[in-house]
Amino acid sequence: MPVGTAATVKAMLPENVRATGADILLGNTYHLMLRPTAERIAKLGGLHKFMNWDRPILTDSGGFQVMSLAQLRKLTEEGVTFKSHIDGSRHMLSPERSMEIQKLLGSDIVMCFDECPALPADRKRIEQSMELSMRWAQRSRDAFGDRPGHALFGIQQGGLEEDMRARSADALRAIEFDGYAVGGLAVGEGQEAMFACLDYAPEQLPQDKPRYLMGVGKPDDIVGAVQRGIDMFDCVLPSRSGRTGQAQTRMGQVNLRNARHADDPRPLDPECTCPCCTQYSRAYLHHVHKAQEMIAGMLLTWHNLHYYQELMQGLRDAIAERALDEFVAVFHARREQGDL
Ligand code: GUN
Ligand code: ZN
Repeated sequence: MPVGTAATVKAMLPENVRATGADILLGNTYHLMLRPTAERIAKLGGLHKFMNWDRPILTDSGGFQVMSLAQLRKLTEEGVTFKSHIDGSRHMLSPERSMEIQKLLGSDIVMCFDECPALPADRKRIEQSMELSMRWAQRSRDAFGDRPGHALFGIQQGGLEEDMRARSADALRAIEFDGYAVGGLAVGEGQEAMFACLDYAPEQLPQDKPRYLMGVGKPDDIVGAVQRGIDMFDCVLPSRSGRTGQAQTRMGQVNLRNARHADDPRPLDPECTCPCCTQYSRAYLHHVHKAQEMIAGMLLTWHNLHYYQELMQGLRDAIAERALDEFVAVFHARREQGDL
């Protein structure tokens, strides 16, 4: 899922996002409740109409963003109060309020309101946080109610502790959700520790429902997570890194700011079929990035989203053909060869 935090995938028109192959976008409760507010979006006909995206939207529930972005946070059993990072105004989020906001937005896939500590954290802190998130999961389920055509996903917590992940999974399974997310990862633990957790976490969750790894990741994170049973991802990397001159390619990450591209007439990736790679040179991308022209972010975001969507399609096809291991071997071999 490309990330459309503030009712836009930055630097892209919705029809262009669609042209990269995306079927679904992620939106954020936290950002939209602060600006322009969920009530305003609801009055204007909901988030799909507001941002001109008529396909599915999944919204994150806000708790995670409050913890990373807001100021003066106060966490209680009821929920969290905080000051806006935009204008310092005071706000409150709880499971009930998060469900209300996500309903006002018209989200198709609603995420439970949860909380998670930054890693490393001690076992006691991880346990208390996981147990609070599981009580909030029940309150989210109760507040969501019965809404045909809309889905509610639970979020597993428990840090890197296998027994707590298992308890969290059991609590979520007992409540019953339409899909299950693995939360609390990619928060500073590193790929090795994340994969070690993904060696057990997905199989603790129902095999017949979507399993979603939140906020991941780099292409090799995604490939490793798919090998371990994950079905869905969201990440700002393709859009955010595009705006800083970074391209994700079959050859690995390419930094267009680097002076070696200044005279290079070749495309970013000669095998890529995106408009950036078929119509522009590395020299041009280098130039417009250096000159801080808006087209730099537009072209690199387009390429990065195209690359990610093609990677996911490749993984789906490989799974359907029972050839995932071969696909992954080619993925890594091409990256080890390096850039052109
Ligand atoms: N995005 C990345 N990780 C998380 C998480 O643990 N919870 C929520 N709600 N969103 C996330
Ligand atoms: Zn491309």
